[in-house]
Amino acid sequence: MLSIGHAELWTSVINRTHAMKIHEVHLKRLRHVLEVLIVLFPIVLFFTVGLSDPGVLGGEEWSQLPGLWKPILIPCALGFAGLMYSAVRHQFYRPPRQQTAQSSELIQMRERLQDDLIGEGPYHYLAGLPFNEIFSVEFTRKTFQLPRLPQSWDGLKILHLSDLHYSGTLKREYFIELCHIGQEAQPDLIIFSGDLLDEMICLDWLQETLGSLQAPLGCFFILGNHDWNQDSQQIRQSLTELGWVDLTLEPVCLQHAGHSLYMTGTEAPWMGGLPALKRSADGAGIDVESDFTLLVSHTPDNYHWAARQEYDLVLSGHTHGGQVRIPPLGPIFAPSLHGTRYTSGTFFRGSTLLHVSRGVSGIHPLRWFCRPEISLLTLQAPTEHAASV
Ligand SMILES: [Fe+2]
Repeated sequence: MLSIGHAELWTSVINRTHAMKIHEVHLKRLRHVLEVLIVLFPIVLFFTVGLSDPGVLGGEEWSQLPGLWKPILIPCALGFAGLMYSAVRHQFYRPPRQQTAQSSELIQMRERLQDDLIGEGPYHYLAGLPFNEIFSVEFTRKTFQLPRLPQSWDGLKILHLSDLHYSGTLKREYFIELCHIGQEAQPDLIIFSGDLLDEMICLDWLQETLGSLQAPLGCFFILGNHDWNQDSQQIRQSLTELGWVDLTLEPVCLQHAGHSLYMTGTEAPWMGGLPALKRSADGAGIDVESDFTLLVSHTPDNYHWAARQEYDLVLSGHTHGGQVRIPPLGPIFAPSLHGTRYTSGTFFRGSTLLHVSRGVSGIHPLRWFCRPEISLLTLQAPTEHAASV
């Protein structure tokens, strides 16, 4: 238990540092050092405290533990308690009542395309590991009833895509088909919430994949931390040339039946800042009393800030659902300041609903108990009764 608690403490450090604006090269070095510590600690603990001084495995008392060990083992015990807390929270997670419906369809991409779909990119050996679910895509459909959605926007369908991570490890055909599947759902609006490329060589995949998507109200994007590690300006330009709208440039206002839907995006902390809602007395900016506001934020870490700003809806990715979930503990790794709290799912805080997609891929093409996800989100206006309440 102490060794597990020790591993949890360093994993918490890995999770938090990966949520910060630190270049991947430095994060990789830090990760390797901490991984060595995580492996060495139980060996040292076994041979010292366990067998020699005081030798608790041989029947000696814990009370004889040398004083040096106490400041080390007490945090380890707290780490274990923290892990248990996260596991219980994961087990008892339920979507908020604002999510009024959910269904999902499992799509076995290898069977559908009659191909192993493994390319030559980095970590491609992971893709073939037993029980890897990277090729079992879940197409989730969720309905959200949102307090401030105008009646005229009732039934709006948003295709939420996230974390495609093109690297050549999963073949181009995988992503082409995924976009076909999304297009068949006939969304009104398509939103991509970041992490498009891990290898710039895949830039020419864009036209056949995201470039093939169309929606009556448009296609909108932000980039993620992995794009920041690449040539983000080139990625941004290529997507813009394909007709996608960059939500980080300025808020987009969609008008329909006398109401406005304001959309904006943030790639903070990696690129740009946080788009505050303006509430100036002269009426300039976004009038949050009457207009519906949507924020696309790569990381869910901006959610609490967005809730204070009274955004109505936030769409995020980045945490990949944890990618690997250990039953019954749930996700362990999540690059977030909140640890595993917002790895995926729907959350409601104040008057703001957050949807975190598990995304499609990752630099490491490995998913256990955590399928890739694309989502069709249907927005529902409040019923007459709910609105009057
Ligand atoms: Fe990602």
